[in-house]
Amino acid sequence: MSNTATGTAQSAIAETQKRVAAHLVGRERELELTLAAVAAGRDILLEGPPGTSKTTMLKAITEEWGIPLLFVEGNADLTPAKLVGHHNPARVLKDDYSADNFVAGPLIEAMQQGGFLYIEEFNRAPEDTLNTLLTAMADRSIAVPRVGSIKALPTFRVVASMNPYDNVGTTRLSTSVHDRLNRLSIDYQDAAAEEDIVTLRTQAGGALQQRMVTDAVALTRATRQHPDIRQGSSVRGAIDCVLIATQLADLRSLSDPADARYPELLYDAMIVSLSGRIHLDEAIESTPERVLREIWEDHFILEPAIAEPG
Ligand SMILES: Nc1ncnc2c1ncn2[C@@H]1O[C@H](COP(=O)(O)OP(=O)(O)O)[C@@H](O)[C@H]1O
Ligand SMILES: [Mg+2]
Repeated sequence: MSNTATGTAQSAIAETQKRVAAHLVGRERELELTLAAVAAGRDILLEGPPGTSKTTMLKAITEEWGIPLLFVEGNADLTPAKLVGHHNPARVLKDDYSADNFVAGPLIEAMQQGGFLYIEEFNRAPEDTLNTLLTAMADRSIAVPRVGSIKALPTFRVVASMNPYDNVGTTRLSTSVHDRLNRLSIDYQDAAAEEDIVTLRTQAGGALQQRMVTDAVALTRATRQHPDIRQGSSVRGAIDCVLIATQLADLRSLSDPADARYPELLYDAMIVSLSGRIHLDEAIESTPERVLREIWEDHFILEPAIAEPG
């Protein structure tokens, strides 16, 4: 990888784009923009709900470049010491502080290995941790007490992610934090792309599974529109719905998608795969099961084209 904007660097990045795209369903634009940011030597914040290809895309890019991808979850426990590293206390007692008994945290590892540090739920990390991170991003080096100055390899990047539906601390990030970050908003894909993802991840084949994929994706997408649901399920719910429905069909000896027992089977798969993945509005006095039943009825009973297959 090169940071220069020469002709050769441009064709190298175009090559990367082509090869990475082969690992992804859709996401051409997101991939192009993310690649442009990291190839420009910049760090970036990906803002989108869970299950919107963030990890898949970063894995594909770092694998293509042959550099490590280090994960950290942003939460209240992510202290600067956890991010940077610490001195092994037992060895400090024996040998005193030294660079030798320093245990590197993910930030130092990413800097030394020239990897991507992927910090999920970035907005949930404490203020002093964000400051440590922003300083490392700006300086591309960090001073660690009793170890010295650690310089990042040129491919070191920080990629942060944030869920826009997360109501804990999303507005907390100061304008000075935002001023230091590039940002890309990532939303859910369309139904056709989600069906392709579910087909790919479940290896679905045959008429019964094809119907399961279509229904699971439609039902999952409906959880994102329902007025009682604050945050619906990602495509992960649809993937699990198809996998579970497939096993249920086997248990119940159901192989024909036009079987009268099919809608109820899908309801059962839906309860298991989606009830834990939807988050009801706090003011609503309902249960995930009741809301899912409504979504199921809308899909199988109220939509005539679907209610009467064949
Ligand atoms: N564009 C895509 N192409 C192929 N699979 C995808 C795509 N987007 C999501 N997936 C699949 O959906 C699941 C969630 O995607 P992931 O990248 O982990 O989401 P995120 O990191 O945004 O939470 C994974 O199983 C992944 O394989
Ligand atoms: Mg992820």
